[in-house]
Amino acid sequence: MPTKLILDVDTGTDDAVALMTAALSPDLELVGATSVNGNTTIDYTTENTLRVFDWIGLPDVPVFRGCDRPLARPQAPRGMATRIHGDLLDLPPVSRGATLQSGHAVDWLIETYLASDGDIVLCPVGPLTNIAMAIQKEPRILEKIPQIVIMGGAHDHGNVTASAEFNIWLDPEAARIVVNCGRPIRMIPLDATHRALVSSEDAGRLRALGTPAGEAAARFVLKRIDGYDATQPMPHRPGAAPVHDALAVCSIIDPAIVTTSFIPVDVEVDAELSVGRTVCDFRFRGGKPANVEFATDADEPTFVAMLLEILGRTA
Ligand code: BDR
Ligand code: CA
Repeated sequence: MPTKLILDVDTGTDDAVALMTAALSPDLELVGATSVNGNTTIDYTTENTLRVFDWIGLPDVPVFRGCDRPLARPQAPRGMATRIHGDLLDLPPVSRGATLQSGHAVDWLIETYLASDGDIVLCPVGPLTNIAMAIQKEPRILEKIPQIVIMGGAHDHGNVTASAEFNIWLDPEAARIVVNCGRPIRMIPLDATHRALVSSEDAGRLRALGTPAGEAAARFVLKRIDGYDATQPMPHRPGAAPVHDALAVCSIIDPAIVTTSFIPVDVEVDAELSVGRTVCDFRFRGGKPANVEFATDADEPTFVAMLLEILGRTA
C-alpha cells in the first residue's frame, strides 16, 4: 500500500523536484499540495506548484494556496533565494488544466486530517506557517497526523545565517510550534541534505531519461548548481548542489536513506545572532525528552538512484 502524503511547499527549484518525486513514486499517494510563502511570494509558489503538476501530466493533484507571510513577523526581504530559485520556474504556463482549488490551505489541511483515518504523513518543505496555523486553529488534527517529516533545520552550519536554515529562520515562531507539537517528527536538516548532492553529471542523466520529470529536474538541478557555485559553494564539490526537499520525500519512501538521532530539538526565536537556529541537545543536557528524529547524514548514491528511477516515470 502506498503511503499517503501531503506536501506543503514554497515551490522553488528543489520543492519542484520533491513534488515530481512524490507525485510519480509508486510508493506514495500524493493527496494534495499546499503552498506557502517562502522561496518567493505566495503568488509565485502557488503558480509554480500548478505548473509542475501540469508539466508532468498530473493536473488533477489538488493544490491549495496558503499563508502569504510568517506567523508573527513582517515579510522577509526578497531576493535571498533568487539565484537558486528565481520567481517563476522555467516551465510553460499551465495548459492541461491544473487549477487552484478554492478555499485556504490551512482550512483544507484541517478538514482533510479530521476526515482522515490518521494515515496521511505530512511533509512540509517550506516555512512552517501553514502547519502552525492549522495546529493553532484546530489542535484536534494532531491526533490524526501520524508523522511530520520536515525539511528544515541545521546543527553544524546554517545557510541563511551562520547557524539558521532558511525554512526555520523565515518563520521561527511557526517552527517552534510544530517541533513542540507532540507528534512524531523527523527532521531533514542541512546536516543531511548537504551530504547528498546532485551533480551536473547527474543532471545529464536525468535529462537523458527523456521524460517530462527528468527534463524539468535536470533544468532545476543545473540552476541550483549555478546558484550554489556562485553564492555558497559546497566544500570540495563544485558542480554539485543539495536538492533538500526531494531528500525529505525520498526519506519517506526509504527511511534508511538518512541516519538519524532521536534527540530534544527546539527553535531559537528570540536571539541577537541565532534566531531560527534549531537547538539540538545531542547529549540531553537540557533535561528535556527527545522530540525529533534529527538526520545527520544521508546516502547520496541511493538518493540519486531513487531520483533517476522515479523521475524516469510518466503519469
Ligand atoms: C530550504 O530552503 C528553501 O530555499 C529550499 O526550498 C529548502 O526547502 C533549504 O534551506
Ligand atoms: Ca522549500
